[in-house]
Amino acid sequence: MDRFHEAYYYLKHLLTAKKRHGVHSPFVYHLSDQVLSESRQFGVFEKLEALRNKLENDERIIKVEDYGAGSRVHNSPHRSVSQIAKTALAPKKQSQALFKLALEQQPKRILELGTSLGLTTLYLHAAASQNAEITTIEGAPAIAQIAKENFLSFGTANIQLLVGKFEDQLLQLTGEFDIIYIDGDHRFEPTMSYFEKCKHLLSPNGWMILDDIYWSKEMTSAWRTCTADARFNLALDFYHFGVLIRDQRKEREYHRLRL
Ligand SMILES: C[S@@+](CC[C@H](N)C(=O)[O-])C[C@H]1O[C@@H](n2cnc3c(N)ncnc32)[C@H](O)[C@@H]1O
Repeated sequence: MDRFHEAYYYLKHLLTAKKRHGVHSPFVYHLSDQVLSESRQFGVFEKLEALRNKLENDERIIKVEDYGAGSRVHNSPHRSVSQIAKTALAPKKQSQALFKLALEQQPKRILELGTSLGLTTLYLHAAASQNAEITTIEGAPAIAQIAKENFLSFGTANIQLLVGKFEDQLLQLTGEFDIIYIDGDHRFEPTMSYFEKCKHLLSPNGWMILDDIYWSKEMTSAWRTCTADARFNLALDFYHFGVLIRDQRKEREYHRLRL
């Protein structure tokens, strides 16, 4: 993690990102004006934030394998659930933005790389229809075990939790996903390798979401490389994460948007 890099791009984003005015693409305007600005408090938000609160106060110690640069600030393999909940999970605003995007996109299949304790999985699950399939991958078995408990407590039957390395688990997957959310190893090479594999698992109108795109220079390079990929013609930069889409537009577009 590079604090200076993050701060520089955060400031740049604050100065240049648009809310809704100044967005000329009707689709992007709609996302910004109606989808993400939706101020309604969905009932499930309260339940999911109560779960976050519970996890942040869970002092159980678990042994965790560290995968790449995915976890932010820990040196020891032993961590409390509370530490993980406070440092590794997407904050409330971002999690709820993911929910709203998924609600808009109405995916039949979702793939998440990086389950952690399962909070974003549950946000995505809540936005999708009851018959949607959600597949999520987590490398650390002890973390996956807690995610499993959380999925059970929400009575979710349609979440498939795969425990193992992304690179291995991705090889088992077939078919097409409508949303793929990559929130794991934050180094350049692994991110590019997951992106390449995931590209082939994305449905024609599917959305690829990359988390923490300004977390480090490597992540920003990965994001820039992904935005140049011919598979996509629309890039939405929300600072905390970026969304890549292919639609009917002729020109490639890049939008910096505020959440
Ligand atoms: C940032 S956390 C995910 C947070 C979660 N999406 C949320 O916000 O609720 C990333 C997770 O990905 C896992 N991970 C990172 N690299 C991995 C890899 N190569 N294979 C499997 N799991 C990996 C880590 O163990 C960690 O639990």
